[in-house]
Amino acid sequence: MGHLVIQGGIPLRGKVKVNGSKNASLPIIAAALLTGEPVIIEGVPDLLDVRTMIAVLEGLGAAVDYAEEQALLRIASGELPPAAPPADLVSRMRASFLVLGPLLARNKKVSLPLPGGCAIGTRPVDLHLKGLTAMGASFSIVNGCVEGHTAGLRGARIYLDFPSVGATENIMMAATLAAGTTVLENAATEPEIVDLANCLNSMGAQVVGAGTAHIRIEGVPRLGGTRHAVIPDRIEAGTLMLAGVITGGDLIVENVLPDHLKPLLAKLIEAGAVVEEIDSTAIRAAAGARTAAVDLKTMPHPGFSTDLQPQFMVLLALAEGTGTVTETVFENRFRHVEGLSSMGARIRVEGRRAIVQGQPRLSGAPVVAPDLRGAAALLLAGLAAQGETKLLQAEHLWRGYCRLEERLALLGAQLERISAGRERAVHTGS
Ligand code: EPZ
Repeated sequence: MGHLVIQGGIPLRGKVKVNGSKNASLPIIAAALLTGEPVIIEGVPDLLDVRTMIAVLEGLGAAVDYAEEQALLRIASGELPPAAPPADLVSRMRASFLVLGPLLARNKKVSLPLPGGCAIGTRPVDLHLKGLTAMGASFSIVNGCVEGHTAGLRGARIYLDFPSVGATENIMMAATLAAGTTVLENAATEPEIVDLANCLNSMGAQVVGAGTAHIRIEGVPRLGGTRHAVIPDRIEAGTLMLAGVITGGDLIVENVLPDHLKPLLAKLIEAGAVVEEIDSTAIRAAAGARTAAVDLKTMPHPGFSTDLQPQFMVLLALAEGTGTVTETVFENRFRHVEGLSSMGARIRVEGRRAIVQGQPRLSGAPVVAPDLRGAAALLLAGLAAQGETKLLQAEHLWRGYCRLEERLALLGAQLERISAGRERAVHTGS
């Protein structure tokens, strides 16, 4: 496993551009299985998770060409053989489960390993299976694999017990080719759902209401190819904005959609940070005179995103006063607390709630990345801390952030990436 060595205490300043969204790209790549015609996707970030999803589609027989420098992905799934994707790949990344809906709709049968639980929780898929069962699919679990088949999917009225992003995406994709109308209630409303629906509609689907809790899909006989540009990554944007504030710096973050960041912008302003919309696609984020502790509660969109909770906790660790973080989406998303505590943070975890007593400073230390967003939090803490931080198991970071060290170095950060093979790539501030 590779790691990052961070020299902290340097305020980050300058302009930084956000990449395309990981969590929009992954379902849209899966959606390419719904048609045999070419699907071209622009703005696809070169991430470990994207590479895994590409390998899953290639394992299903799709022809995939990825020009990473242009962030351009071309997929032609052709006449999909009713194959099972490579089990080791699907097990590696939960988002691979998003091929379930498209394969059922296209091939009428599917065999997929149950996605394992992961660092942030058990993360079942019961809502995915319940919705597709209502549409006429039958499932059995055999040796840890979900075996599904259908005589043909048909429209249904489905109420999601929880607004699950993945379940909304799987059901919506399957419904585009089902016979009749599907109504999905209590659906997830994240911007990535809207982006997926827009892509599906550009392929000839009839999805109405994406972005609200009530989505209606009229099934069509087939979908065609398309060319679609994914939305900017709101979680990467928020992570970068927090880096600017937490290091006492001043950043202009470009290629953002401010509307997708409202919960974070509100919390940053409440905490005393300087937040300014420069124009429709750029936001300035800078440290204010002082950062006051606030209370944070993660919620499904349009609430505060759970994917920015670890990063925001670092701001609270350095704020004046005591703040609280309540994590309502995942049952175990405080694994970054251990690393922050070894850097001097004062945090007490009580179930789904963390009480954070702000400190005047953090000090660098060797820390282990627990998961993707926990890795981002520890990176931010290392950038703000006095002294050197060694972020071990930094591969977690590279699952969701593309060339982040290079972009941070252009803002003044002192980072050294040491890959597993011991090659040293030193990124130093300009
Ligand atoms: C998506 O995961 C995102 N991943 C996650 O981002 C994000 O944290 C999450 O949505 C919530 O916003 C992608 O889009 C690839 P869920 P997903 O289904 O779809 C429970 C990141 O850091 N649940 O909305 O897996 C589940 O256990 C990642 O980029 C069920 O109980 O999330 C969890 O507690 C991390 N049954 C909650 O719902 C189900 O059938 C939210 O899960 C499905 C989910």
